[in-house]
Amino acid sequence: MKFYFAPMEGITGYVFRNAHHACFPSVDRYYTPFISPNQNRPMSPKEKRNVLPENNRNIPLIPQILTNNATQFLQAAKVLADMGYEEVNLNLGCPSATVVTKGKGAGFLGEKEKLRAFLDEVYEYTPIPVSLKTRLGMRDPMEIVELLELFRQYPVKEW
Ligand SMILES: Cc1cc2nc3c(=O)[nH]c(=O)nc-3n(C[C@H](O)[C@H](O)[C@H](O)COP(=O)(O)O)c2cc1C
Repeated sequence: MKFYFAPMEGITGYVFRNAHHACFPSVDRYYTPFISPNQNRPMSPKEKRNVLPENNRNIPLIPQILTNNATQFLQAAKVLADMGYEEVNLNLGCPSATVVTKGKGAGFLGEKEKLRAFLDEVYEYTPIPVSLKTRLGMRDPMEIVELLELFRQYPVKEW
C-alpha cells in the first residue's frame, strides 16, 4: 500500500511537512497545498518558500498547481522543473466557493470544452509529467465517466 499525504492549504506547509516526515518517514509522497499562479507571477513568495528544495530536504514532494489558464500553469511548471521537481499535480478538486466561482478546481470540471483545450496545451508543452487530483464531478458523481474519457486522451502521470 502507498501512503499519500493530502495537501491542506494554510495547514500543511513546509514546517508541518518536515515535522510530519520526521515522525512518519514512511509516507510515500507529500503533495503541497495548491500554488495559484496569476498573470504577474508564477507563484507568491510564500508559495515559493513552501516548495524550495532546501525547505523540503529528503521529502518525496509533488507540487500542486491550481489554475484554469494553461500559460500560467506552464510558467509555474517550468519554475518547478527548474527547481528539480519531476512531477506536478493539477488541482481539479477544490470545492471552495471562491475557487469554484472562478472556474478553477472542481469548478473547472463543469466547463468541459475549456478543460479540454487547457489539457491539450498543458500536456503538449509541460516540461514535467502532470498528475491530476479530481473529484467525481461538479454536480453528479456519474460525470466521472465522461471525465475519464477525457483524461485518458492524455499521458496523465496518475489520477
Ligand atoms: C483546510 C483544507 C485545505 C485543503 N487544501 C487543499 C489543497 O490545497 N489542495 C488539494 O488538493 N486539496 C486540499 N484539501 C482537500 C484535502 O487534501 C482532502 O482531499 C480532503 O480533505 C478529503 O480528504 P479526507 O477524506 O481524508 O478528509 C483541503 C482540505 C481542507 C480541509
